[in-house]
Amino acid sequence: MAQYDVIVIGSGPGGYVAAIRCAQLGLKTACVEGRETLGGTCLNVGCIPSKALLHASHQLHEAEHNFAKMGLKGKSPSVDWKQMLAYKDDVIGQNTKGIEFLFKKNKIDWLKGWGSIPEAGKVKVGEEVHDAKNIIVASGSEASSLPGIEIDEKVVVTSTGALTLPKIPKKMIVIGAGVIGLELGSVYSRLGTEVEVIEFLDAITPGMDGEVQKTFQKLLQKQGLKFTLGAAVQSVDASKSKAKVTYKLRKDDSEHTMDADVVLVSTGRRPYTDGLGLDALGIEMSQRGQIKTDSHWQTNVKGIYAIGDCIDGPMLAHKAEDEGMACAEVIAGKAGHVNYGVIPGVIYTHPEVANVGQTEEQLKEAGRNYKVGKFSFMGNGRAKANFAADGFVKILADKNTDRILGAHIIGPMAGDLIHEICVAMEFGASAEDLALTCHAHPTYSEAVREAALACGDGAIHM
Ligand code: NAI
Repeated sequence: MAQYDVIVIGSGPGGYVAAIRCAQLGLKTACVEGRETLGGTCLNVGCIPSKALLHASHQLHEAEHNFAKMGLKGKSPSVDWKQMLAYKDDVIGQNTKGIEFLFKKNKIDWLKGWGSIPEAGKVKVGEEVHDAKNIIVASGSEASSLPGIEIDEKVVVTSTGALTLPKIPKKMIVIGAGVIGLELGSVYSRLGTEVEVIEFLDAITPGMDGEVQKTFQKLLQKQGLKFTLGAAVQSVDASKSKAKVTYKLRKDDSEHTMDADVVLVSTGRRPYTDGLGLDALGIEMSQRGQIKTDSHWQTNVKGIYAIGDCIDGPMLAHKAEDEGMACAEVIAGKAGHVNYGVIPGVIYTHPEVANVGQTEEQLKEAGRNYKVGKFSFMGNGRAKANFAADGFVKILADKNTDRILGAHIIGPMAGDLIHEICVAMEFGASAEDLALTCHAHPTYSEAVREAALACGDGAIHM
């Protein structure tokens, strides 16, 4: 059997990035993957396919709502669902094959099958046992349902089933107003589905800045999504083609029901560690089923590391990638580091929502002395021209030092705009540093600069 410096278990964004970095650092590396294609949840049934459907459905929305205003007349396009799914599958294929190419380029062996760790220093794949000086567990996460709900991936679906529905449903109930529910709810709403979102809490997207939550909900409602907040789903009764959702309103405990053709359960994900043999190895786990690691991603068993969704922290592909690179560097004897205070979060709806650092609520709770610089996209010429003037940029900075503490954007390309603020925060920049940086005109980025100006003597275009 082959001898490796590192075997990575799982080829999602955490695992494949870790494997590539290990190989680049001169370590003999293999990656275990049981799926037929590389890339994990993100590339196969998550980030990438959902972005394809978001893009296609957004184009339809633009054609239906904005083309005529620009003098582009003619019949609105109709939806060929089969073709849209084929386009999505093609995008998946291009990306997963891209990882295969990168593995070959970096001389990483793909060990096909599901891996387990019979003892430290060994990884079993099928009947073969391979030696590995170091093992990185990057096994990811799976959708977690609620008690009383059985997922059949046809009528009652997770995000996986929602990406391959045989037809566009007339009515969809989304349980949970988090990232998955709102992204996929938006897709189907734009394709003509009546979408009702049921959320346990009194606001959508828990943990997000309160002002953004309110604006986001209003904009989604304008697009046709309906919300029932403060409602705890009790059960879902499904037949072959329909489902009935029973929920209780938390304010008065009254019970209600709602019918739909499809129910999307998007109430969170949990670490996936089944079959790895972690129990027998005595690897410490948290109460939430996450693998416990030290600050260098090493578990309590020497030589076994873990990264990504199966450990603590936000379940985000880019957080896993950062950990993958840093963990590889630690194994290679370098100083791997992840700055957990500057990990952006993005929701790829339209408009997009993006955040980094602290929310205003967190700063208040911590008793921080802060100031707010806000700028609406209404004052941005480019956004107006592109029918994208809904939303704002909000920068939170320390009142005394002017250092940027957080930023929250709802608006066009928010997921890209956030990164100049991430870089600024990495460098410990002040709001004034951003405000004094020349920004090209006319760009959406000017709204970021204006928000930074608003932290000082004031925005110009407001
Ligand atoms: P989530 O944690 O974002 O949201 C789940 C929602 O379900 C919460 O609002 C919660 O209050 C609600 N909920 C829980 N129990 C409920 C009940 N009984 N009745 C009604 N509502 C209930 O989880 P989601 O959307 O499933 O996403 C899972 C993970 O995947 C997240 O960690 C997310 O960050 C990640 N993800 C990230 C994406 C991105 O970065 N764009 C895209 C998709 C997923």
